[in-house]
Amino acid sequence: MAEQSDSSSFTATEHFTTRHLALTLRVEFQSRRIAASAALTVEALRDELSELTLDTRDLKILKITANGQEVKFALGNKHCFKGAALTISLPFKLLRGQHVVVEVSYETSPEASALQWLTAEQTAGKKHPYLFSQCQAIHCRSMIPCQDTPSVKSTYYARVSVPKELVALMSANHDGEFADDQDKSRKIFCFRQTVPMPCYLIALVVGSLESRVIGPRCRVWSEREMVDAAAYEFEETETMLKKAEDLMGPYVWGQYDLLVLPPSFPYGGMENPCLTFVTPTLLAGDRSLSNVIAHEISHSWTGNLVTNKTWEHFWLNEGHTVYLERMIGRSMFDEKHRQFAAIGGWKDLLEAIETFGATNPLTSLVPRLCDTDPDDAFSSVPYEKGFALLYHLEELLGGPDIFMGFVKAYIQIFAYSSVTTEDWKNCLYSYFSDKTEILNKVDWDAWFHSPGMPPFTPHYDTSMNDACVTLCKRWTIATDVELDCFTESDLKEMTSMQKIEFLALLLLETPLRLNNVKRMQQVYKFNDVKNAEIKFRWLRLCLRAQWEKAIPLALEMVTVQGRMKFTRPLYRDLYNFEKARPQAIETFQKNKPSMHPITAALVAKDLHLV
Ligand code: BES
Ligand code: ZN
Repeated sequence: MAEQSDSSSFTATEHFTTRHLALTLRVEFQSRRIAASAALTVEALRDELSELTLDTRDLKILKITANGQEVKFALGNKHCFKGAALTISLPFKLLRGQHVVVEVSYETSPEASALQWLTAEQTAGKKHPYLFSQCQAIHCRSMIPCQDTPSVKSTYYARVSVPKELVALMSANHDGEFADDQDKSRKIFCFRQTVPMPCYLIALVVGSLESRVIGPRCRVWSEREMVDAAAYEFEETETMLKKAEDLMGPYVWGQYDLLVLPPSFPYGGMENPCLTFVTPTLLAGDRSLSNVIAHEISHSWTGNLVTNKTWEHFWLNEGHTVYLERMIGRSMFDEKHRQFAAIGGWKDLLEAIETFGATNPLTSLVPRLCDTDPDDAFSSVPYEKGFALLYHLEELLGGPDIFMGFVKAYIQIFAYSSVTTEDWKNCLYSYFSDKTEILNKVDWDAWFHSPGMPPFTPHYDTSMNDACVTLCKRWTIATDVELDCFTESDLKEMTSMQKIEFLALLLLETPLRLNNVKRMQQVYKFNDVKNAEIKFRWLRLCLRAQWEKAIPLALEMVTVQGRMKFTRPLYRDLYNFEKARPQAIETFQKNKPSMHPITAALVAKDLHLV
């Protein structure tokens, strides 16, 4: 098959590749800019090379040198999601294997899509401003001019100057901190990442941060207001990391820290090396959402060591990571828990495919992204169709232990490189070379390229799910006179996860009758629940039943936190509820300036404002 290039990037990966990145960043809260220089050590992969193209987005390029010599450059037109190509003319020709150091002096824009600048009022402590980045999938280019494609891996070093009362952290190991000689009001933090990694894993946070030690190589970081709650919630981190090592081999990144971000962080978790970023909505108080940590830990192997070559192969990152997350869950609890989680995942897949439409090309496992922003393509499909495929193979090929043998071999073979679905499939066939007959029965084309639900429906053990299904059925069919039979004790034997599943099942049904929802509030008091996963599904249920009392509660939830998994469906449900639509639009427009740029862009689309 011909070399596949990355349609989400302007860079020519067949011409050159970045080996190392040396960053000097000066974080300026006043102007909401980073004044920076990025020195890329670039290797030529062909002879006669005299032009380099890098990805940028909203960057102001001040000056570029190549091996110290000033060079000419040009910025192309801005593409709607790819940004602008930066073409650099070298005054000499490179031969294959030669290296050149290209140093770009530049400034970021206050609108950089990778960055959210928070005012002091938007933080828990209210005293200091805060900055954090989110580069996956293609936002790194708004922070650093680079080959913004996961097919390129490099090490990095960074020196970050920040106001001296603040702390800077990056997705790397610490390499010292000292006073800024040039500016007494500032401090410099240094970071070293010695494992080559794709640039979407570069991450930066600056804020009034504290930490607590929770294990020999684990700390939690956050503002002081949350740090003890976080240390409690994530206490199992080292235990899970050890389980992960038992399954996948040594953890190669050194430190494994967690950072609890402000509530506007758009994801549940982000696997930034050495420093996983997580949403504060994981702080349920009962460790019930620790699967997200198991998930981000697993990315230390699948994603961060073995990386999808382009965003079309994103399922390789997320499908394997969900598979490993559930293997860690299996080893923390038991097989029944894994089966329960798998059923929940299948139901998330049903919902995602219903939202996109069963013929939408974005519901295929390996979608084409030439004309699509990876942020628009994002859904549960790569996670759960990917998991379903791996689970199906596990069953066909002899069970979890045998299949983990393959996953471990796949990781070993492709560690430190980037892979396509074809590479993965070839690896599978060569690992199971004695079972090709079985493998040939798999409808690969349907799994990879057909939209909609997978060609095979797995059978999971329903023992932990039965209670959720039974209770769901009772509520679905209950008439007014039957509502009295529900009591608080219905939920007594259920774990938080089972409550979440119960509500998720109800959401798959036709909307509940308004009286049923009102009665549910009377007996279960979900309005008072803190667990964000429960609250989110409960509010959706209320909105679907057109309960007006839920409108202000939903508007509050989309405002006080910005995790897209919650905020986007709530906004969509508010939009579809005629009485709530004007308020939803008004709330969004009012909050937009203080929202995360990625979330704001996607919610604007969800509300049909663009
Ligand atoms: N890497 C993803 C988050 C992501 C994906 C950010 C694509 C930007 C673009 C992360 O590992 C993730 O999957 N997080 C999930 C966790 C869940 C599946 C347990 C989330 O945020 O909810
Ligand atoms: Zn993930």
